[in-house]
Amino acid sequence: MLDGYGRNIRYARISVTDLCNLKCRYCKPRPVPKLRHEDLLSVDEIITLGTDLCNKAGFTKIRLTGGEPLVRKGIVPIVRGICAVCPDVGITTNGILLATYAEELRDAGIRRVNVSLDTTDENVYRAVTGGDLRSALAGIEAARAAGLGLKLNAVLQRGVNDDPLPLMEYAESVGAELRMIEMMPFASTLRYAGERALNAEEWARSLGMEPSGVDGKVRKYSYRGHEIGIIAALSRNFCAECNRIRITCTGMLLPCLHGAQAYPLRDRIGTEDFKEYLRYVLALKPSSHGLGEGNYQKIDMGSIGG
Ligand code: GTP
Ligand code: 5AD
Repeated sequence: MLDGYGRNIRYARISVTDLCNLKCRYCKPRPVPKLRHEDLLSVDEIITLGTDLCNKAGFTKIRLTGGEPLVRKGIVPIVRGICAVCPDVGITTNGILLATYAEELRDAGIRRVNVSLDTTDENVYRAVTGGDLRSALAGIEAARAAGLGLKLNAVLQRGVNDDPLPLMEYAESVGAELRMIEMMPFASTLRYAGERALNAEEWARSLGMEPSGVDGKVRKYSYRGHEIGIIAALSRNFCAECNRIRITCTGMLLPCLHGAQAYPLRDRIGTEDFKEYLRYVLALKPSSHGLGEGNYQKIDMGSIGG
């Protein structure tokens, strides 16, 4: 479906819960008030939403996010239902519960997972995320053993992973593609971003990384015999090619990750006017995020789902 700037929007990121079992400093640094059960989209509503997006609006890609999607009760039926209607389904997880779910997710139809992993140092991992590195690594191992395709996402942070070699070596050892993500500031994380964020393009240049290609929003580099992808929403704004929308776990539609505009979609799910309503909202999708101008999203990243 085309938006107001002629971009073909066909990728939806659906958050299935805003709860998370980690508290990453750059993502969800404060506890969120627990939502009432009835405010969350139900398993059936999420599946119908995926069906509407693919069958009525021509979407071809759905990514399930959170919070942490694997803490959502009913995640396996959700995955099964979405995989039945969508040709390309992904899930982005912190990996902590992946050892429990990898095989079930595969059997439900998932072919690949993106796992957030900022460091391979146990103490640094705990300081950044509050969690146990060993659980995340066990999850990654289990995904690999289940035959799932793997991407690792590391948010670039000064003093945490500005030396990318350990992550690169680890990624290679598990057959994963590594992407370093430039930290995006949110209203609730401005202080941490001020202390730790790096300009990813400058960082890559300062290390002498060699550009080796572009794949959509990912710019590829080679470094000391390894391949690495960089996603830099600030230093290499890719809004002109944006093809996605976000839907929160309460059914609010965000045309832009960093935009203040959120539109209630819940009441349209499974109805005749789903497509028309989506068309109306997409016409309002902004041309670009306003991060450079200091327009920071007030909803936490962790509640939107990345
Ligand atoms: P693939 O399908 O494997 O390419 O997944 P993905 O990169 O779309 O999803 P993932 O959840 O792994 O996202 C990685 C991160 O890239 C996101 O959390 C964001 O930090 C960043 N990112 C992805 N899409 C966008 C976007 O549209 N705008 C901005 N600003 N950042 C994005
Ligand atoms: N900036 C950039 N990426 C972020 N993520 C979470 N918070 C931020 C942020 N402030 C990443 C996570 C996860 C993906 C969904 O978003 O590491 O991999």
